[in-house]
Amino acid sequence: MSTPVTIHTLSGTSRLAGVMGWPVSHSKSPRLQGYWLAQYGVDGTYMPLPVLPENFAASVKSLRDLGFAGVNVTIPYKQAVFAVCDELTDRAKRIGAVNTVTFSPDGKIQGDNTDGFGFIENLRQYVPDIDFSSGPAVVLGAGGASRAVIVSLLDENCPQIRLTNRTASRAHELAREIGDDRITVVDWPIAKTSLCDAALLVNTTSLGMVGQPALEIDLGGLAQSAIVTDIVYAPLKTNLLLGAEARGNKVVDGLGMLLHQARPGFHRWFGVDPVVTSELREFVLSPV
Ligand code: ATR
Repeated sequence: MSTPVTIHTLSGTSRLAGVMGWPVSHSKSPRLQGYWLAQYGVDGTYMPLPVLPENFAASVKSLRDLGFAGVNVTIPYKQAVFAVCDELTDRAKRIGAVNTVTFSPDGKIQGDNTDGFGFIENLRQYVPDIDFSSGPAVVLGAGGASRAVIVSLLDENCPQIRLTNRTASRAHELAREIGDDRITVVDWPIAKTSLCDAALLVNTTSLGMVGQPALEIDLGGLAQSAIVTDIVYAPLKTNLLLGAEARGNKVVDGLGMLLHQARPGFHRWFGVDPVVTSELREFVLSPV
């Protein structure tokens, strides 16, 4: 007996999108966007686009000229794409990076950053009554992800951000660049002192990720009502989240940030605001 074949064809008016990076084979975006394309029956495709650095700028313009609706941009191009964009959203300027590009009908290249949106929406999905203005947030790490997290928390009226990083100069530099007096830099060796009366603790460092050292922080001073989240999602439950959960804190893993940050691009390119479900989570995590 022959196996039934699922046929996916594109029409002459299919919408085209993809993810540009170098390398790009690690990206979960094609699987994620592909799931939504199938779920919503969209006449479109989303493909991995490995692009060498010397070809990057020309490739973005070529995709526009080829009629693509837009692209996601990942490492190492999140900053380089700035120079290619004709228009940038306010949040992309403040975060200092672009992850979502849309080609407008008049040929303009529009850059946005949806990482902060993904961070906030992930927390809202698991803690629907979360109030970001209810107390200080402690942010561990001062890389690109930290910047998106901090900008989004400030936009949600977080009253104070306590920023701490192994390399103190990077934390000071980030605070200076964002330029909001609600950011206070705390020395890394005394990070635990910043937990007192915090409403939210966020790990944006790579500590705790598969193959990286664990994040060691004494949570003793953290209120039980505080929410703890990690942008690391491999493993889903980092030692930070396991430790926080064991002492009664509500925890939110980092996978949802990846899933939610993809929504605005899908909406713009394919016309549907997609939903992040537990089935999607399982699909994205399952081996190809
Ligand atoms: P991303 O853009 O994904 O945030 P990044 O810019 O490489 O990545 O930042 C990684 C973060 O993890 C930084 O805050 C880094 O601290 P440093 O600025 O001191 O490098 C942090 N990090 C990585 N390894 C670390 C370690 N072993 N101990 C403490 N922090 C670490």
